[in-house]
Amino acid sequence: MPFYHTLGSIPPKRHTQFEKPADGSGRVGLYYEQLFGTIGFEGMSSLMYHVHRPTMVKAVGESVDLNPAVAVGQNIMARKLIGFQVEPADDFLESRVPLMVNKDLILGLAAPRRSLTDYFYKNADADEMLFVHHGTGRLRTLLGTIPFEYGDYLIIPRGMIYQIEFDPSDEPARLLYVESHSPIYTPKRYRNQFGQMLEHAPFCERDIKRPQDLETHDETGDFVMKIKKQGVLHTLVYATHPFDVAGWDGYNYPYGFSIFNFEPITGRVHQPPPVHQTFQTDAFVVCSFCPRLYDYHPKAIPAPYNHSNIDSDEVIYYVDGDFMSRNDIARGHITLHPGGIPHGPHPGAMERSIGKKSTEEYAVMVDTFRPLMLTEAALRIDDGKYYQSWLE
Ligand SMILES: [Fe+2]
Repeated sequence: MPFYHTLGSIPPKRHTQFEKPADGSGRVGLYYEQLFGTIGFEGMSSLMYHVHRPTMVKAVGESVDLNPAVAVGQNIMARKLIGFQVEPADDFLESRVPLMVNKDLILGLAAPRRSLTDYFYKNADADEMLFVHHGTGRLRTLLGTIPFEYGDYLIIPRGMIYQIEFDPSDEPARLLYVESHSPIYTPKRYRNQFGQMLEHAPFCERDIKRPQDLETHDETGDFVMKIKKQGVLHTLVYATHPFDVAGWDGYNYPYGFSIFNFEPITGRVHQPPPVHQTFQTDAFVVCSFCPRLYDYHPKAIPAPYNHSNIDSDEVIYYVDGDFMSRNDIARGHITLHPGGIPHGPHPGAMERSIGKKSTEEYAVMVDTFRPLMLTEAALRIDDGKYYQSWLE
């Protein structure tokens, strides 16, 4: 996140001796400093101070290949996936079902039944975006805890060690997730040269949920960490508790943002999708469609015009409310409108929208600059007929 945050205790000067409190025998030790950055030493970084060396690997265990099986490599068909048909699973990682992939990202759904507390997880391949469709709880990381609820995006930069706790619920949690090989940032055009969010941005720093309640565990033993690297999940055993940071500061940390805090930008005539943009990467954008007043030109057509995203694939995850431009869409559905062919409102949607004053829709859109491939899991929940749904 491009603004400074700090938790716990840190020394007044970086890269200097930082003494631990004396233990029972009067012995004084030093904390172990770790620079935790991205993009070599050019990107955002944080400096953290560990109770123990963060390098104490005791054992390397099994590895599991998580690279998704691709069923359709060259897709030209508009698709509708019935997202809530994704089966729940107990384990947080095993519950992830990759649906659409390319060289830049993995997009999928997860319905975990249980919290992730019996091991630690680190994704060394990708920044993760978790969108919480159902469930409340806490994302616990080595840099602090972020409470979450329905509507939250959780942005977890690559390399963050975390666990996740879900509050007890009759239903499994429901998450949309994206694993992004390029860093996930807020849109550059909404930031000034110093990184501050500008006045025309649809959200600002106050809306960002920063980590809080830093946990500092001084524990030795066997601590299992599952690390995803090159699509493979490795199992390592560490000698000390991974959450042993006494203090940190910097710019590289996980954060939350609620879709309910996105302030829509509206106009006299239909505004294009970039007004809904919430995050950017080098390879895709994420947009939030939120309740808003419709266009107010006397002859306005609130439904979108047909459009050809000729060189990007468009994924929309339907969260809540009526989605004005679509027929037969429900919560948890995902549509894919592939690049190369136009798409637009369904028959009747344009006429239906005229004279309407507002919409109550919530949806998350992911537009990828490279075509998406579909996994076997995606085909299992594909309705198979959406591509013909514009026929009169
Ligand atoms: Fe579109």
